[in-house]
Amino acid sequence: MVWARGASTAVAAGGVTRPRHVAIIMDGNGRWAAERGWPRLVGHRRGAERVKQIVTACPDLGVDWLTVYAFSTENWKRSTEEVLGLMKIFRRYIQREAEGMSAEGVRMRFIGERSRLDRRLQDLMASIEARTAGNTRLNLTVAINYGGRNELLRASARLAERIAAGEITAPTEADLAACMDTAGHPDPDLVIRTSGETRTSNFLPWQAAYSEYEFTPTLWPDFTPDHLARILDRYGLRERRFGGA
Ligand code: IPE
Ligand code: IPE
Ligand code: MG
Repeated sequence: MVWARGASTAVAAGGVTRPRHVAIIMDGNGRWAAERGWPRLVGHRRGAERVKQIVTACPDLGVDWLTVYAFSTENWKRSTEEVLGLMKIFRRYIQREAEGMSAEGVRMRFIGERSRLDRRLQDLMASIEARTAGNTRLNLTVAINYGGRNELLRASARLAERIAAGEITAPTEADLAACMDTAGHPDPDLVIRTSGETRTSNFLPWQAAYSEYEFTPTLWPDFTPDHLARILDRYGLRERRFGGA
């Protein structure tokens, strides 16, 4: 499906405008655990359980595309224990959720640089993408080892190859977009960040150029479908102008 910029919102029953593509920076797992005196990985496990609930809630809230930030290119700076623990959680999550995702009509995709990830994890990612490729109820994109600058660098290299091959002569924005990990995905209408931080931390800088932002103090493991529904209601009150008058 081709999505025109500025046209990717749906009008739900009752005339409320809903974002079709919601992107979430799932932050605050570590603090959630620390508040309870628990290891950070407990917070990450609880956070992974939340993803499932939010995924399940999206179709009924009118959301067709959900993109979640799970691990950034900067997160390798964390302790080996935390990084390995997170990778184990991703592997388990993908393995365990595969059947459920298929049954619920979720199409799962991944963005980010895969080559640095464990081979088994890469294989699992490819297999769930293939298994869910025919699903249409919700498009779930998980950003793992994702950084917007890293994505732009890789996309620029691909674009340069196409120019060198003579496929493209005068590159356009659409040509670069087609070289990104998100090629074919609509831009996010709304980006939510939990945990009270008001920064974007290298998440979708190209794609979110005209997105609306919502920052909530709720820590990710406490973020429920009700929180999401309230944020989506507020989105309906916004006026998006895309540079127009
Ligand atoms: C988000 O929670 C998950 C990842 C970045 C992997 P954090 O681990 O950043 O939690 P805080 O920000 O330290 O509370
Ligand atoms: C952003 O959170 C990355 C993810 C949620 C995966 P961080 O916790 O890594 O961001 P900073 O370091 O606070 O900017
Ligand atoms: Mg954080």
